[in-house]
Amino acid sequence: MIETDFDIVSPAFHADPARTLERIRATGGPLVRMKLPILGKMLLCVSHEACGAMLKDKETFVRDPANAGSLTQERIIRILPRSLGLLALNMLGKDDPEHRHLRGLVDQAFQRRGIQAMRPMITAVADQLLDGFENRREVDLMEGFCRDLPLSVICAMLGLPDKDHERFKRWLGGLSDTANIGAVVRAIPGVLSVVRYLRKVARPDGGAKPDGLIFALQDAEINGRKLSEDEIVSMVFLLFGAGQETTTHLIAGGFLEILRHDDQRHRLQADPAMMPLCVEECLRQVSPVQLTKPRWATKDIVFAGHQFRRGDSVAGFLTAANRDPAQYDDPHRFDITRHPNPHLSFGTGVHFCLGFQLARAEAAIAFERLLARFPDIRLAVDPSSLVWRKRVGIRTLAQLPVKLS
Ligand code: HEM
Repeated sequence: MIETDFDIVSPAFHADPARTLERIRATGGPLVRMKLPILGKMLLCVSHEACGAMLKDKETFVRDPANAGSLTQERIIRILPRSLGLLALNMLGKDDPEHRHLRGLVDQAFQRRGIQAMRPMITAVADQLLDGFENRREVDLMEGFCRDLPLSVICAMLGLPDKDHERFKRWLGGLSDTANIGAVVRAIPGVLSVVRYLRKVARPDGGAKPDGLIFALQDAEINGRKLSEDEIVSMVFLLFGAGQETTTHLIAGGFLEILRHDDQRHRLQADPAMMPLCVEECLRQVSPVQLTKPRWATKDIVFAGHQFRRGDSVAGFLTAANRDPAQYDDPHRFDITRHPNPHLSFGTGVHFCLGFQLARAEAAIAFERLLARFPDIRLAVDPSSLVWRKRVGIRTLAQLPVKLS
């Protein structure tokens, strides 16, 4: 096992992961140990094979540390204020059978509103946002578009009133910089405001629109059990957190790749049928979620050449897995014709992203509408002067300045 001090949180890494990933790869093994802010020393799977195998083995690697013999997390949750503790009730922190149960309930509600049926709404929101750019020569796409599109779509999907979008942006804004404990603490008041608001709308007469997911979650039932109010709040918070920022950074980071590679961009503009492959390549190349949540070993086991003891933790380093030369030829090259492209950007196994179809649709529509409305759009600054945030686990551009004509 190799101990390393690579900085995978720094803006320099986010701007160009290739060099650091090559150095990590040169350490030789499928696992490396790194020090991360807040999380401390973490063991990370850096090969595609180890990452996939670990995430798929739900018997050996679990999400809830209590199932691997550690009660520390449970104790911490018990001393947190209830409004914060309940956020840990979500399915991404659970193992079967609870995970299956919670996911089954939300799957039911998700499937009732097919993603195909949402495409006209997503297109209308994208066009409305782009209307705001008409007659402007230069804009920051991050502000008026990349953040607002996923936020509006998730609010519409949940059935939250449009007038509340601005409040959400304000409340959740503090979460965009979480590389140190001080920033996390500063974000707590905003999170508590969201929880209070969601608790109100999660009640049967709380104002959620009848065609939205919150309404459906109040009704959803498996084996005669419905979700409690706390579980609905926790689930909606997860959907919000998991569905908004991730998609924002896929759209921003993906569009940056398209703008930086003229040959690929012209190919896409000449043949719009390339869009689905292009979105997959953006997912691989950007890897908006860089790290999975940690898993805990349920038993002593040798995995990927490393001796795990029961209770040891490990996470998937998706950025590294997605650029593994054992899986991909020329892995740092952005190539929208790449096929097959079995990237792990949505994770894999039982916690495979619930919103993958929605995220793909949003990115495809965003890219298509941007190029259709502003065919000459280009970066307004040199890529080397773009600012990346110091952030654990999410690859975050601060601004995306573009010239529209
Ligand atoms: C580009 C956009 C997105 C990316 C890159 C992404 C990535 C991921 C990843 C890597 C995981 C697994 C984490 C782990 O195993 O530790 C995950 C889980 C999840 N995602 Fe996404 N996601 C995206 C968009 C969305 C959207 C739009 C939604 C919902 C509206 C969503 C909802 C979820 C949920 C609920 C889970 C937990 C699933 C479970 O525990 O069974 N995601 N996502």
